[in-house]
Amino acid sequence: MIKLKFLAIVIATLVAVSCSQAQQQPNTLKDALAGKFYIGTAMSLDQITGKDTDAIKIIKQQFNSIVAENCMKSMFLQPKEGEFFFDDADQFVKFGEENNMNIIGHCLIWHSQAPRWFFVDDEGKDVSREVLIERMKNHITTVVGHYKGRIHGWDVVNEAIMEDGSLRKSKFREIIGDDFIKLAFQFAHEADPDVELYYNDYNEWHVGKRDAIVAMVKDFQANGIRIDAIGMQGHIGMDYPTFEEYQAAIDAYTSTGLKVMVTELDMSALPRPGQNTGANIADIETYRAEINPFTEGLSEEVSVEWTNRMAEFFQLFINNSDKIQRVTMWGVSDATSWKNDFPVRGRTDYPLLFDRNHQPKPIVQRIIDMANNNN
Ligand code: GLA
Repeated sequence: MIKLKFLAIVIATLVAVSCSQAQQQPNTLKDALAGKFYIGTAMSLDQITGKDTDAIKIIKQQFNSIVAENCMKSMFLQPKEGEFFFDDADQFVKFGEENNMNIIGHCLIWHSQAPRWFFVDDEGKDVSREVLIERMKNHITTVVGHYKGRIHGWDVVNEAIMEDGSLRKSKFREIIGDDFIKLAFQFAHEADPDVELYYNDYNEWHVGKRDAIVAMVKDFQANGIRIDAIGMQGHIGMDYPTFEEYQAAIDAYTSTGLKVMVTELDMSALPRPGQNTGANIADIETYRAEINPFTEGLSEEVSVEWTNRMAEFFQLFINNSDKIQRVTMWGVSDATSWKNDFPVRGRTDYPLLFDRNHQPKPIVQRIIDMANNNN
């Protein structure tokens, strides 16, 4: 009898201990992934200015790193030469500080979303190399200087290298020459010697692009130019890239001693235009239906497939957490993702972790469980 009582007490204690352990398991993304990598999101202007309250709640609960979706791009920060507009970006940084977040600046030099005045004189003609270098320096020095000590790292140059490894034919390259990338990093470092500096690009698993970026990093290192990490934009799809390609890219970048950041992560659930469709292109209605198949909600089959594939990517990130410093989603919920309008306007896409009603999709718990099981 005494033995039985003793057994009952032991069992009750074990159950209590395991229950309290279960209760202690982190149940948000940022808590579960703590110690592995930062988990971040891009913030839209409606979130930065406090309008999108549902999304703000999720950001505070789930994420510990933020990047501005648009308001820190040069066309917004310096719409006219010498006239800087910092109001929105200031609010963004303040939000990050108030919520104790890892704040990322995006992006200093990019061929897109740059104001036209940057490259031309009063008559609309291209400026000289000297003038463009001066403008680039002034922009970088002013912006990086403005946030000195408050931003963890900057995407210094965005999307300068093509998939075949050649440099993009941008205005920066055309007017300044190939060394515009190096100059941008030097100016950023001079403006804030403590801030981390990143090169950010898409499709970086392409071997040509990958090898060119590795060569660039080695050249920087040989010349004493600071670069801390490679930002791998994660605009991925249901059939690209392969996990092997992604792993090979992480290995290649980190072989230089740099860290990797998975930036701008979203996975479209929709067919790529021009692919997979049996429709006759001339039949516009049928074609539109085929490339926009889930206007009323994702099918169960694709939803499961999407969750499994995204989970596998997160498992890969977790397996590489010694190399990956941050994983940043490109937005909070499907409702406001840019993928609804790219590469085709007006579709209904499902690329993010939270659904159109700001509810967590099954992937959120999957990630939390994977992270907890990996401790
Ligand atoms: C690129 C840029 C981002 C954003 C996306 C589209 O990836 O780096 O800032 O503009 O395109 O939303």
